[in-house]
Amino acid sequence: MNKKGLFISFEGGEACGKSTQIKLLKEYVSTLKNKEDFVFVREPGGTPLTEEIRRLLLNYEIDKPLPMTELLLFCAARVEDVEKIIKPALEKGKIVIADRFYDSTIAYQGMARNIMNVEQILKLTKTIIGDIKPDLTFYLKLSPEEAFKRKSKINEGLDRIEKEGLLFHKQVEKGYDYISNLEKERFVIIDANKTPDEISNEIIKKLNNKINNM
Ligand code: TMP
Repeated sequence: MNKKGLFISFEGGEACGKSTQIKLLKEYVSTLKNKEDFVFVREPGGTPLTEEIRRLLLNYEIDKPLPMTELLLFCAARVEDVEKIIKPALEKGKIVIADRFYDSTIAYQGMARNIMNVEQILKLTKTIIGDIKPDLTFYLKLSPEEAFKRKSKINEGLDRIEKEGLLFHKQVEKGYDYISNLEKERFVIIDANKTPDEISNEIIKKLNNKINNM
């Protein structure tokens, strides 16, 4: 692949403030002269098919997928997003900002569901999407206990995975800690206890540094 662009991902457990940060980043980008250079994508999602896969994975009440089916559906959506959105944008030199990527699969399906180990998920990922990986990953780190406190204030509208218990989310955190240590060079670990503005400033500063060194 002839890669010229920049690939950024956002990761983190439930209620870590990731959606707020992506919203703030979108607002910041919308003020830039080169806003057309940025492409936002969420995983799973972004195309009609992957939005449908997302619905099946997170909000389909009729029949719960087996853990292996869940893993493969997340992977199927990733193939679609990589081939139809991410790679074409990077080839045009764009800055792609992904709300989750394969680190989520490592944390949720690998560590928490315990379907495959990290090495197997990395191998599967390489087989289905090749060598593509984020150049920079913002990991918003929040303890599952704190996440549960935040979630108790939401209650309604939680999806199937968000509704999993504390033990599951502790494993998710373990998964993120593992991959962020294994692929240190691309990870920026952010203390998600800070205020949204503090976090947003930190992200914009790091992102601009990366863009200036492209
Ligand atoms: P979001 O609402 O933060 O976009 O995330 C959707 C949910 O899907 C979240 O609970 C994490 C989960 N997920 C996985 O379990 N595996 C994956 O590979 C991805 C991308 C998301």
